[in-house]
Amino acid sequence: MRLVLIHRVQTILNDSNQKHGAGIIGVGRYLPQRVLDNEALTQFVETSDEWIRLRTGIGARHLAARDEKTVDLAEHAARKALENAQVSAEEIGLIIVATSTPEAAFPSTASLLQHRIGAKCGGFDLSAACSGFTYALATAAQFVQNGIYRNVLVVGAETLSRITDWSDRNTCVLFGDGAGAVVVGRVPEGYGVLGLDLGSDGSGGNLLKVEAFAPDIEYSKCSPRGDEPQDRRIYQNGREVYKFAVHVMGESAIRALQNANIPPENVDLLVPHQANIRIIESAAERLKLPMEKVFVNLEKYGNTDAATIPIALSEAREQGRIARDDIVVLVGFGGGLSWGSCVLKWW
Ligand code: ACO
Repeated sequence: MRLVLIHRVQTILNDSNQKHGAGIIGVGRYLPQRVLDNEALTQFVETSDEWIRLRTGIGARHLAARDEKTVDLAEHAARKALENAQVSAEEIGLIIVATSTPEAAFPSTASLLQHRIGAKCGGFDLSAACSGFTYALATAAQFVQNGIYRNVLVVGAETLSRITDWSDRNTCVLFGDGAGAVVVGRVPEGYGVLGLDLGSDGSGGNLLKVEAFAPDIEYSKCSPRGDEPQDRRIYQNGREVYKFAVHVMGESAIRALQNANIPPENVDLLVPHQANIRIIESAAERLKLPMEKVFVNLEKYGNTDAATIPIALSEAREQGRIARDDIVVLVGFGGGLSWGSCVLKWW
């Protein structure tokens, strides 16, 4: 018994001594079937397709069915990422789910997902709003880089439609449901995550908020999902969040690039959080990147919170927009206030 244990420890040590990086080795996404376009939204609030497109760039969003939970979306995306990585669920050492819309405080979405996919590992949910995926990826990369786990499953999954106030035109036009997933695994040294920038400023916490416990507010019953009035909803001071986002996106990306020692002109693709096209354009401008080097899909999906970046990554890979050796920058911002950027050299 003792010999076996010593052998295992030795194997782990040998394994972790080998130099390697931590990179994204598989991607997947899932969008619920139902599409609600801007025109359909005019049934709920006084707005127009023209206003929404002009101010945000959003044309439509997907909505989860009434019986579709965050973990359902997460499962679809996770299975696709595992298949894409050619990694089985048993080979996953840890699951991290970035979400603002878990079913419960506990059990975590990660635990439910672990059971669903048949993984034999630990998992936890991570709460950093729209920055959640960059935080989760940064965390996963540490475990893979230091040799503790060979593969970590990272998921961004949201059913924001359940906490959207469908009578508030300031917010309901912005959000949608969806999930994206990646497998973080070993890649040769010099590839994978090369630079990070994570930050938060809680002084702006009230600018973008979802109460964890039911506040005493009357809610609109007019939901396109046809469900009961929710006891929680998204509150946002749009103008202030806009100003914060315009500033922080470019600055955070620059800091992560400096951290990786890579000049902005070497960036092949910027994959930003998909909140508003004007915010994305200003980040590209700060980095002096032409829009051809920026991945944008918010026209189809709107803001899916922690899911926007992995969904975008999955589409970018599928469309051949990311190839080996490419420098890819991911940048997110959101409630907290929080922000996060990751620089990767793609393997
Ligand atoms: N349709 C029509 N008119 C509208 C709508 C709408 N959906 N929403 C607001 N308006 C009106 C306002 O009432 C206002 O009218 P008024 O001038 O008569 O008062 C006018 O349009 C302008 O409103 P603003 O709030 O100044 O519009 P703005 O150009 O700032 O755009 C928006 C609003 C799109 C919300 C913008 O502020 C924004 O994108 N902010 C950032 C939001 C964001 O990125 N959130 C990220 C969340 S990340 C996370 O963690 C969840």
